[in-house]
Amino acid sequence: MEKFIIKGKTKLTGEVSISGAKNAAIALLPAALLIDGVTTIENVPNISDVQICCKILKTLGAKVKWIESNTLRIDARDLDCTQAPLDMTSKFRASYYLLGALLGRCHKAEVGLPGGCNLGARPIDQHIKGFELLGASVDVTQGKIAAKVKKLVGTTIYFDVVSVGATINLILASVLAKRTTILTNVAKEPHIVDVANFLNSVGADIIGAGTDIIKINGVDKLVGNHTYSVVPDQIEAGTFMIAAAVSRGDILVKNCIPEHLDCLTAKLLEMGVSVDVYDDSIRVTCNKKLQASNVITLPYPGFPTDLQPQIGVALCLANGTSIISESIWDSRFQYTNELNKMGAQITVQGKTAVFEGVKGLTGAPIYSTDLRAAAALLIAAIVANGTSELYNIHYIDRGYEHIEDKFRALGANIERV
Ligand code: EPZ
Repeated sequence: MEKFIIKGKTKLTGEVSISGAKNAAIALLPAALLIDGVTTIENVPNISDVQICCKILKTLGAKVKWIESNTLRIDARDLDCTQAPLDMTSKFRASYYLLGALLGRCHKAEVGLPGGCNLGARPIDQHIKGFELLGASVDVTQGKIAAKVKKLVGTTIYFDVVSVGATINLILASVLAKRTTILTNVAKEPHIVDVANFLNSVGADIIGAGTDIIKINGVDKLVGNHTYSVVPDQIEAGTFMIAAAVSRGDILVKNCIPEHLDCLTAKLLEMGVSVDVYDDSIRVTCNKKLQASNVITLPYPGFPTDLQPQIGVALCLANGTSIISESIWDSRFQYTNELNKMGAQITVQGKTAVFEGVKGLTGAPIYSTDLRAAAALLIAAIVANGTSELYNIHYIDRGYEHIEDKFRALGANIERV
């Protein structure tokens, strides 16, 4: 088992270039299965979730090849299987996108119940409800989901909760359906827009991605021979912005879309951090003590749950008392136990955490509990007094490309052993 050894007390300075978005890439790859042709996708982060996804696509008969370090070519002309291997699909969350993509292209799909980070209950009832409304029959038995349909027919689907996964999955299932599908109360995250842009670039007819209602006019076929570039990862960008603030450093976060980070920018300004916004980069500098603040996580454009653990590190070092209310996941405060081992004073009650600001953190052996918890603990270790050992770093490899190289280039002392 690999771990990071981090020598702390580092002020991070310099520039970092942001990779393509994990949560967009792992939706675009299954989306490529809808295309009866060859697609080239650039700016794909080479992370473990993407690697597993590539393996699954190959088992379904697609030809998948890295033609450059961040460019994938996917040829889905000879798709010959609709059963995704259960041992692989159970390893990552986004395997549920194979259901929408295979139903759309082949009218049947069998996929293991999706795995992914343990953030509490992660139901997929809204995905299933949507497929059924499009005419599919869906069975969930013995750890797998099997769906089939003669022909998907568009209809209006109202989601009971705002769900990133259900929104994307129903877009995937609807693009080749008969007639028009209207999705209401949808998620608006940048990766939803990215999936719609990608599919439109190969012939789909999707209108309204990024708003509360998405209309999909079914088309007969999606055509390949197209190159598309994945949107920059706003969560990775936000992670480095917070790292700059917490370490009282100075980081130019390059290759990002600043408007995707408006809520974090506003929060950092409120906490006394300097944030300069340029066309495709953001500079974050901090040379004074952070001020306490309250955070509530919400679907986009609210404060992202995927930056909640990272901002938690900032709040445990801020002047005064802060509160975080987590509104998306039941179990996203597991990282606070590890921060408390480092000297933080955090108390958690249900989906609320109270942070009493402390002067500093001290290095300790700490355990990642999920992807974003791992990123938060890495930031904490970088600024703590002394040395930390960070375990379970396979979590961080799921979603951050070259994370230790990027932090090292900013001055951090991290060794992977
Ligand atoms: C996506 O998860 C992301 N994962 C998560 O990223 C992210 O935390 C989450 O969206 C929220 O932004 C991927 O894109 C692969 P949801 P997803 O469906 O799609 C409830 C990370 O660290 N819900 O938007 O699984 C659900 O319980 C991660 O990168 C239902 O009740 O999340 C939750 O409370 C982890 N029924 C809320 O909706 C459903 O059918 C939002 O979940 C679906 C969801």
